[in-house]
Formats: sequence, C-alpha cells, structure tokens
Amino acid sequence: MILEDSTWPDIEAYLRRARGIVIPIGSTEQHGPSGAIGTDAICAEAIARGMPRDGDILVGPTIALGVAQFNLGFPGTVSLRAATLMAVVADYVGSLVAQGFRDFYFLNGHGGNIAPCQAAFQDLHLATSLMSATAAQEKGLRLKLRSWWEYPQANALRQTLYGAREGIHATPSEVAIALAARPWTRRTTAMTQAEILAPEALREMGGDRHRDAHHHRERFPDGRIGSDPALATPDDGARLLAAAIADARDDYRAFLTGD
Ligand code: NI
Repeated sequence: MILEDSTWPDIEAYLRRARGIVIPIGSTEQHGPSGAIGTDAICAEAIARGMPRDGDILVGPTIALGVAQFNLGFPGTVSLRAATLMAVVADYVGSLVAQGFRDFYFLNGHGGNIAPCQAAFQDLHLATSLMSATAAQEKGLRLKLRSWWEYPQANALRQTLYGAREGIHATPSEVAIALAARPWTRRTTAMTQAEILAPEALREMGGDRHRDAHHHRERFPDGRIGSDPALATPDDGARLLAAAIADARDDYRAFLTGD
C-alpha cells in the first residue's frame, strides 16, 4: 500500500491489522556527471515501494530533501539544515503516532541523513521517557533507520559488481538502481576512471562528514567520490533493486517482531 494512493478509510482499516510504516528518505543533490540529482530519494523510494505484497506493508510519502550542505556548490542541490530535517522527522512521526502508528522504519538513501535522524529519534523517545512508566508502555514508539547499502544481499552484490570502483558517492550501484527505477534518466557521459581512495579516507567521510561546499567542489570537482558511475547499467540496477527489496522485507519483518 502506498499512503498517498490510499483513502483515509483504507488507512483506518490498515491500522486495525498493523501499526507500522516504511518511510523512504533521500536527498536532492548532485550525483556526479551522469547521475540524476534525485538519485538518493529515487533509490530509497524504489526499494520501499517494492516491499508491499497484497497490502501487507504501508509505505509513506518520501522525504526527498536531506542534509547535503556540502553539495551546494553543484547546481540543483537542495539542502535542509540538520535541525529542519529533525523537525520534519518529528512532525511526520508525531502526526501518525496520534492516529495509532507505533513502528516507524526509515529506509534511507543518503549518508548525511543518518546523524540528524538518529538525533530526532532520541528527542522523540525523550517525550516517552519523561512520561510515567505506565503511560510509556502504552505509547510503545519504535523508530529505526536503515540505509539500503547496509542490506546484506544488496551490499554483497554491489561489492561483486563494482569492487573498489564503487566509491562512496555517485556510486555505480545507486546510479544503477535509479536507472532501473527511472530509465529515462540515463546519460552516456564520458568520464575518467575514479580516483581510488584509501579505506581510512573513506571511513573518515562515512555518514557524509564533509566540510563546506566550496571545499567539497574543489576536492571532488565532478562530484564523484572514488566511484565509477559509468559502470552503472539498468540491468544491474534491476538486480540490485530486487536484492535490496528482499533484504528490506526481511529487515522490516525483523524490526516489527523484535524487541
Ligand atoms: Ni547518493
């Protein structure tokens, strides 16, 4: 079920059998010379919308803007402040909690969203922590963020397909998934082979811990970070997408039934 395509009686009926929702979250930022600016949101949305079978899973509206200030030197990038994203997450969750939703699974496509989402989750839990034990038990709010590239089958496949040429931004895997979801975004842009970055450098940049936009464009002039997105094909994208959807269903089930 897609929330925007449903009616309120559909959602009321859904809430009688379930109380979970999958929320795709991405970013609108440059993805190298050949990748669509919407890549992160397109990937998260395509994976999330592939999850439902016979109305068993509800997918909410995609949060298409993320925290991407470091990419503002590239035209077309739109960034939220971390505090704005935290507020969006709080309002999204708060609206649905008031109606009976309890289990929120954010399916993430952008590293820069991880820290602000985790901070927003802490603040949402704080509201429950400040209640009496009985009231808190009734609330039972559960929040999880999972980035699709952590999924075991999808991660193994992207390593097999691209190895050291996967990089960490404008990666062939994310560009391939976006091509599978939106074939019309394909570009055949000539580019040099990626600069292979040391593992320590990649770790240092994990979760998009970058500096300002001026520095970032100077350091990564065409927007890629150690990646060869020219390797991306729609066929590989379809395989990655199928793997990620299967992983996402498993991970969401485990979330719903876990502690
Ligand atoms: Ni991306």
